[in-house]
Amino acid sequence: MNKLTKQEVRDTLDLMDQDLSVDYYRLYPNEQGAFEQLKEIMATAIYQRNKALKLQDEQGVNWVNDGNTVGMMLYVDLFSEDLSQLMDKVWYFKNLGITLIHLMPVLEKRVGENDGGYAVKNYLEIDPSLGNMAIFEKLIAKYHLSGIRICIDYVINHTSNDHTWALNAIKGETKYQDYFYMYDTDERPKAFEKTMNQVFPNVAPGNFTFLNALQKWVMTTFYPFQWDLNYSNPQVLNEMITILLNLANKGVDMIRLDAIPYVWKSLGSDCRNLPEVHTVLAIFRKIISVCAPSVALLGEAIVEPQTIITYFGSEESSECHSLYNASYMVEIWNSIATRDARHISHMPQYRVPSKSVWINYARCHDDIGWGLDNGHLRSLGFDPHAHKMYLIDFYLGSLKDSFSRGELYEYNPQSLDARNSGTLASLAGLERALKEKDRYQLELALKRIELIHALFILKSGIPMIYSGDELGTLNDYTYKTDSHKSHDSRWLHRSKFAWNDVEKLNEVSNPVALVYKGVKALIALRKLIYGNHPVVQEETMHFGNSHLLGFLQHLKSEETPTLLIYNFSEDRQWLYTSDLKRYGLNGKWLEMLQGKRLDFAENTLILGPYEFFLLKFEN
Ligand code: GLC
Repeated sequence: MNKLTKQEVRDTLDLMDQDLSVDYYRLYPNEQGAFEQLKEIMATAIYQRNKALKLQDEQGVNWVNDGNTVGMMLYVDLFSEDLSQLMDKVWYFKNLGITLIHLMPVLEKRVGENDGGYAVKNYLEIDPSLGNMAIFEKLIAKYHLSGIRICIDYVINHTSNDHTWALNAIKGETKYQDYFYMYDTDERPKAFEKTMNQVFPNVAPGNFTFLNALQKWVMTTFYPFQWDLNYSNPQVLNEMITILLNLANKGVDMIRLDAIPYVWKSLGSDCRNLPEVHTVLAIFRKIISVCAPSVALLGEAIVEPQTIITYFGSEESSECHSLYNASYMVEIWNSIATRDARHISHMPQYRVPSKSVWINYARCHDDIGWGLDNGHLRSLGFDPHAHKMYLIDFYLGSLKDSFSRGELYEYNPQSLDARNSGTLASLAGLERALKEKDRYQLELALKRIELIHALFILKSGIPMIYSGDELGTLNDYTYKTDSHKSHDSRWLHRSKFAWNDVEKLNEVSNPVALVYKGVKALIALRKLIYGNHPVVQEETMHFGNSHLLGFLQHLKSEETPTLLIYNFSEDRQWLYTSDLKRYGLNGKWLEMLQGKRLDFAENTLILGPYEFFLLKFEN
């Protein structure tokens, strides 16, 4: 392949600029100069992209839709101290079957408190505590050799207050003050506050911070040290695109765009999910598709279900390749607490555009916010407010019959509203059972943990495991003694990776080994069933028994569907086969995890406590 000259690249871009220019001028009318600069940025990036990556680009992002992809997210420092040591951990991921690793913020972060790295000081360097760019590139190459892809976090809504742009703004450079939302008086901030919500109402109240050094106000939607970038300034978008392409050219396979609903602000609105956010994302997508076509964008939009889906864009104007299925995650925990599968089975079904994919998960580094659909709750006979209060208390563990152990996050003493923190295993009952030495509860907790994993590992989309959950890691209360962390209960589920537990994986009856074995078997099952036959259509089933959830999956080039049935209760449950026959399902089926056979000619099928089936038609 002959390398195109930079001029040839530019000419090609000129030919295809219509689409992009429509979006760009919608945001920045009359900014021809800035648009020309953007094309120059793209031309440079294409020109600089190395041969190996260009070869990889020929496959595009097909990999996101292949049934083999299984992800794990982790903090590098907690998992392996730094990138060099992570380089020697390929075996761990290979053993488990992980093929995509999301490295949470690795770029140079603010010194001191930094929101777990989500306050970036320098987007072009790796945090010195983790290594440097050269090591990072080596690491990507090494993981690629083992068939493992790398996803990196890109915090696009804000920089930290010690980023050069912020420091230049503090020095009085108006060019950089315009990179942020800065005001001389509190008039505009007060006007904004009238309609803006609060992300951290308790730990970081308000959306503006007064800068003593400058005697100005700056918008800080998250923590006061996270300054919101002003995307209404085309220079900001151009800078952020330069960085996006720079990261892509390091060889990463996926870029997680942090907190996307917030990136556009407008006075008089709540400054979330504005139409311009979609235009910004459409621009990101068009540019990445041209300059680094094998790189996928993962959007983080933890908002209402009907809004999340909009961040895929449409068939005509695509936005993110993948999005967190936060609604499904919340419904999992809702159904686990209530033992009522109707919460999931009545979830609205949204059509995902082609070449797009959900990231399914149960836990991540953040809290669980109870963003449930109130209309849907009411239709099931629940009072939405009372039900939310119940879930908050249930996962705190304050209800007498709760198996869960967690903490409140962002508790509001006036409204009693809160979110919940805790690891998957602790929220699912393992911590309490072990502490109370309750063997019966321990068995149930282990089954529940396996069920929760099955719910997202076998679902259509990419499963993303939160590192440590595969070992049943429990809550870590030591964060309370660290003054940089004690106010933020999300550190409860951000503990050091338990390498000593990895040494116990051969101890047959050790809970850690049992959890690990279950997760590993599910990953293997996923690859066996969907590896060459990804799900093309998934239908939620409705059964007479409200403890049971079913999915009917139609797989690529498979004649008969795959059937998933989950029991959300700790009691045995009966499923009338007439409920299955209604979907045209008859005959004998093989359960693929256990190997047992089920005959739909029987009147009922029985599922044990928290049992689930993945069934393939036999005859
Ligand atoms: C995202 C991250 C969260 C962080 C926030 C601000 O939501 O997941 O951890 O606090 O963005 O960057």
